Amino acid sequence: MTAAVNYLPEDPAHDAEIEHINEEAFGPGRFARAAYKIREGGPHERALSFVALNGDTVVASVRMTRVAAGAGRALMLGPLAVRPTFKNLGIGRRLVAMALEAAAKAGVPAVLLVGDEPYYGPLGFKKIPRGQISMPRPVDLDRVLSHEIAPGAVAKLTGMIDHEDKVQAVPA
Ligand SMILES: CC(C)(COP(=O)(O)OP(=O)(O)OC[C@H]1O[C@@H](n2cnc3c(N)ncnc32)[C@H](O)[C@@H]1OP(=O)(O)O)[C@@H](O)C(=O)NCCC(=O)NCCS
Repeated sequence: MTAAVNYLPEDPAHDAEIEHINEEAFGPGRFARAAYKIREGGPHERALSFVALNGDTVVASVRMTRVAAGAGRALMLGPLAVRPTFKNLGIGRRLVAMALEAAAKAGVPAVLLVGDEPYYGPLGFKKIPRGQISMPRPVDLDRVLSHEIAPGAVAKLTGMIDHEDKVQAVPA
């Protein structure tokens, strides 16, 4: 099946539908997640976040948030969610590809996320070595994945990951 889907950068007018999609995909447990706690630290990057639209309806969303850990800087990808009736059409993969391309164009050195390696591995994400980073809430460290854009950028991500707005500048 193919669906008529358009991809756009996120706009504030999409917020309510995105919230609904994330509620549907992750339920109330989403507020307890480590990634959610990090995202609570400040705004996401709307210009680097994307939606998929079917007509005027948002059917999928990916958000990107600036984070920091040690001397490293990155965008955290997520939440990524697709409405159930639009799953398995390549929309998730396409949104991830768009987000990675936008991150590279914006000069962001790395993208990280908490997610399933079997899904994100083929999209260019690898496990961050255990012990390199931590999160403000318990997280399965085998699910912390990164996509390096600038060589060496992932190795600079060390210690606690937090929203970039909450981390003091560290000399490079
Ligand atoms: C995971 C999700 C974003 C995938 O989006 P999608 O548009 O349905 O996926 P795509 O069409 O891009 O890719 C489909 C492929 O990914 C596979 N896939 C989907 N979820 C997967 C997962 N968690 N682990 C491994 N593979 C997965 C599908 O089996 C399918 O494989 P195939 O191409 O071999 O048939 C979507 O299913 C979703 O919103 N799930 C609920 C929320 C969620 O889990 N988000 C991810 C947070 S880390």
